Amino acid sequence: MSVKQRHILVTSALPYANGSIHLGHLVEYIQTDIWVRFQKMQGQRCTYVCADDAHGTPIMLRAQKEGISPEALIARTDKEHRADFAGFYVDFDNFHSTHSDENRELAETIYKKLRANGYIETRTIEQAYDPEKEMFLPDRFIKGTCPRCGAEDQYGDNCEVCGATYAPTELKHPVSAISGATPIQKKSEHYFFNLPALEPMLREWTRGKHMQPEISNKLNEWFESGLQQWDISRDAPYFGFEIPDAPGKYFYVWLDAPMGYMASFKNLCDKDKSLNFDDYWKADSDYEVYHFIGKDIAYFHTLFWPATLHGAGYRKPSAVFCHGFLTVNNQKMSKSRGTFITARTYLDNLNPEYLRYYFAAKLGSGIDDIDLNLEDFTLRVNSDLVGKVVNIASRCAGYINKKFAGRLDPGCAAPELYNDFVTAGDKIAALYEKREFGHAMREIMALADRTNEYIDEQKPWSLSKEAGKESEVLAIYSMGINLFRLLMIYLKPVLPKMAEASEAFLHIEPLTWADSATPLTDHTISKFKPLMTRIEQEKIDRMVYASQENLTPTHIKKERTATMNIEPIAEQIEFDDFAKIDLRIARIVKADHVEGADKLLQLTLDIGEDKTRNVFAGIKSAYAPEDLEGKLTVMVANLKPRKMRFGLSEGMVMAAGPGGKDLWILEPHEGAQPGMRVK
Ligand code: 2FM
Ligand code: ZN
Repeated sequence: MSVKQRHILVTSALPYANGSIHLGHLVEYIQTDIWVRFQKMQGQRCTYVCADDAHGTPIMLRAQKEGISPEALIARTDKEHRADFAGFYVDFDNFHSTHSDENRELAETIYKKLRANGYIETRTIEQAYDPEKEMFLPDRFIKGTCPRCGAEDQYGDNCEVCGATYAPTELKHPVSAISGATPIQKKSEHYFFNLPALEPMLREWTRGKHMQPEISNKLNEWFESGLQQWDISRDAPYFGFEIPDAPGKYFYVWLDAPMGYMASFKNLCDKDKSLNFDDYWKADSDYEVYHFIGKDIAYFHTLFWPATLHGAGYRKPSAVFCHGFLTVNNQKMSKSRGTFITARTYLDNLNPEYLRYYFAAKLGSGIDDIDLNLEDFTLRVNSDLVGKVVNIASRCAGYINKKFAGRLDPGCAAPELYNDFVTAGDKIAALYEKREFGHAMREIMALADRTNEYIDEQKPWSLSKEAGKESEVLAIYSMGINLFRLLMIYLKPVLPKMAEASEAFLHIEPLTWADSATPLTDHTISKFKPLMTRIEQEKIDRMVYASQENLTPTHIKKERTATMNIEPIAEQIEFDDFAKIDLRIARIVKADHVEGADKLLQLTLDIGEDKTRNVFAGIKSAYAPEDLEGKLTVMVANLKPRKMRFGLSEGMVMAAGPGGKDLWILEPHEGAQPGMRVK
């Protein structure tokens, strides 16, 4: 290659070590992985690293709750995360942890450099403290009554009911979410990074080409409201690294998290001597470093992180690329709707390349949110990948295999068409480079359409019925195979497994971008095996259903996605299991709204013999209280009473339907009487 090889280091945000990877996370890992695979196919020296983000209060508390050490929690999550990423073909060159020797060393070195350069200050501040648990409380671990609307049980910094934001000190009746104790205010010395001292550098840097214009503009607003000193210390007990020369003080998780990018790379350099850490991170490096992140953490990556690097004498990122959030069926992912789908639940039901392709088709270089519409997902994947691309290979391979033992034509039947595809490849490459994957997918599908049109026009199936036309037919089908090969080159960053299967089918070495220049001629291909099968609706239903099943019964509301028409029948049970359920006819004597509950109605049920039951039912979206009073329904009468926030619920009424307005309580025939057993 005459152009100089680029040296590129790429990262995705480090997932917290206390949670599972879900489809929301995967937007970013898939986006990054596609970009990295593209660079590698171009022959660049591109290295992709990541790690688990292992420090902080939530991880410490989670481990305590489970009765294990934070290290054990981290080790377990590390295994789970690696398996999930591998399942989606997210191919890191290295996956490490922020709780590692490399990261401790880097955190200490960088901190000492910042201190030596005069960027660290100390100051005493007052904060909420849990006197029972004997620890300072992060805002999200304080709960109380919203000072604006009076809603109970709201977090320390914002109210989920009215949307107000406030300081935790403004909460009424504050309690520690950990122990339930009333927090006190307590003083302690904190360490600060003097961010304002680097404002001129940051203003300049954030105006450059290092981020998307939307982020740059947002940063301007932050500059206008004034940069603050950044509090980088936390008091013990805290799970993290102790600050040098400051016993009992720990680095705040967000200080050492981005250093985890460097630490993971350092760990890789120690294993692969062809990589040199300083070449990538020295102040005047001309190598490239890119961080892919979600727009919610832009602040950390475009202000704190470059300031930290600069202040300690390292290079700053070449660019930070933000993406938007994922919605499912145009709504926030929701546990009750079964659209909060973990990586594992997806993998248990569907081929990961469906999602890789769908995300690619939706992604651009901007920060707009992207929507996974489950219906569109099925249509798109089935029509583009199975209906267009795989179809080309399957319609061309049969004849070549049968009549010519898999031997392709020695020439190229339509060289102009081939060259058009090669030229289109340049445009597609430029789109990948700019992260305009959606546009690239449209270009590729237009080429797939042209390939199918070419075959349709040539009508090899009718030519093959004429005597002496065999070599003409072979030439057409071979041309189809060659165009298919080009499509697979262009799709390979998105569909690595299907590309691998295609390489086996074509009987060729792993495809690189440069391979597009020359067609396959005089070459023997293998037998065709289906490269991808259609998405079946049932699998999607199962995935949505399984995403609800993970939850406790209170969450299993009747809300379902539009695609979820019929739920699969649950596992078989014994008659004895069924016989345990005592179903009774009940008359709804009273129905009331429940203050502070969006979904519940409070029902008073008459179940005969002067007995009444109080039940909270999640049917408010479908019924007004007055519609219910006097109606007969069916209830589970021997369900253990459950204490809810609003009172005791003594049973459950039965309802059917997908949810929202489409929800119907069961109404027995008028002849039934309250108290009768349903058998
Ligand atoms: O927001 C998060 O999930 C963080 N764990 C991301 C950290 S990215 C980097 F800075 F480490
Ligand atoms: Zn409120």
